[in-house]
Amino acid sequence: MALDVALNIFRAIGEETRLRIMVLLSRGELTVSEITSILGQSQPRVSRHLKILADAGLVERHREGAWMFYRTTADAGDNDEPPRQAVLRAVWDMAKADDRILARDSDRFDQVRVARAAQAAAYFEENAGEWNRLRNLHLPEQDIEARILDIVGSNPVDLFIDMGTGTGRMLEIFAPLYSSAVGYDLSPEMLAIARANLDQAKIAHAQVRHGDIFSLPLEASTADVVCIHQVLHFLGDPGAAVAEGARLLKTGGRLIISDFAPHDLEFLREEHAHRRLGFSDAEVSDWCATSKLKLTQVETLSPISADKQRLTVKIWRCE
Ligand SMILES: C[S@@+](CC[C@H](N)C(=O)[O-])C[C@H]1O[C@@H](n2cnc3c(N)ncnc32)[C@H](O)[C@@H]1O
Repeated sequence: MALDVALNIFRAIGEETRLRIMVLLSRGELTVSEITSILGQSQPRVSRHLKILADAGLVERHREGAWMFYRTTADAGDNDEPPRQAVLRAVWDMAKADDRILARDSDRFDQVRVARAAQAAAYFEENAGEWNRLRNLHLPEQDIEARILDIVGSNPVDLFIDMGTGTGRMLEIFAPLYSSAVGYDLSPEMLAIARANLDQAKIAHAQVRHGDIFSLPLEASTADVVCIHQVLHFLGDPGAAVAEGARLLKTGGRLIISDFAPHDLEFLREEHAHRRLGFSDAEVSDWCATSKLKLTQVETLSPISADKQRLTVKIWRCE
């Protein structure tokens, strides 16, 4: 590494606001406006600091519609450039330090996270009764469900876990395949509907439980299939949910993720509480790799009509 590159890295980190931003981002990805509100500084100022960090290779940015997301660059392993490796490791250590300013930033980070979750929860509370109609808006649901069943295959499934089960639809369609299943969700309204749906379908070997998909009350390596269907685009840290799904899988188990391909329908953020505008295969593959899983199959279900408001649905199988 050239001396000027190393100097850029050390100069980038050697400033209070930039160090605080790095420590914040080590806790999870944030948008510029979230960083601005946590630090209480103007957007142009924060953007200038972020540019310096990005130019030094310490943060990565990712534009999606009108929002720009920032995260720390991933690799601080042995193959990383030594100065960058040292800086990223120092930042992780700083995040654990007992410091008044960093502690306040960290509290505000938590408040942002809670506000984000509350916004999505309010949406689900309001729309729980309508969810079965809403989930059909993008593509005929039967087509997606048939493909998901296909991708999971016919191997016996002792335990099936549905993360963000909503009205419990995945528990219903997989019922003939599993011996037992648990669907987790944070929304009491969704859970009430899921219970009623399972009763009506006479499915007694599945349960639904209140639980946060970022930390489920289950032992590691217990599930044969974990499903995350149309949940990730609502989350602040979708990669962490994938990691939690991976933790639950037995060796040889399958993680099935279904969500949208990248799109530009910005109104879904305002009107339907979406945070992310779809995901690329590369992003899903990176999350899998981080959790020691391999992305083994990708299905793309394109809308039949040319209606620009219809979205492409993806199904990813990881094992
Ligand atoms: C769009 S719905 C999808 C429901 C279902 N998987 C389906 O495909 O019909 C997303 C669900 O994820 C739930 N959810 C969002 N964040 C969650 C979290 N952190 N933990 C558990 N459930 C969550 C919501 O309450 C909502 O029911």
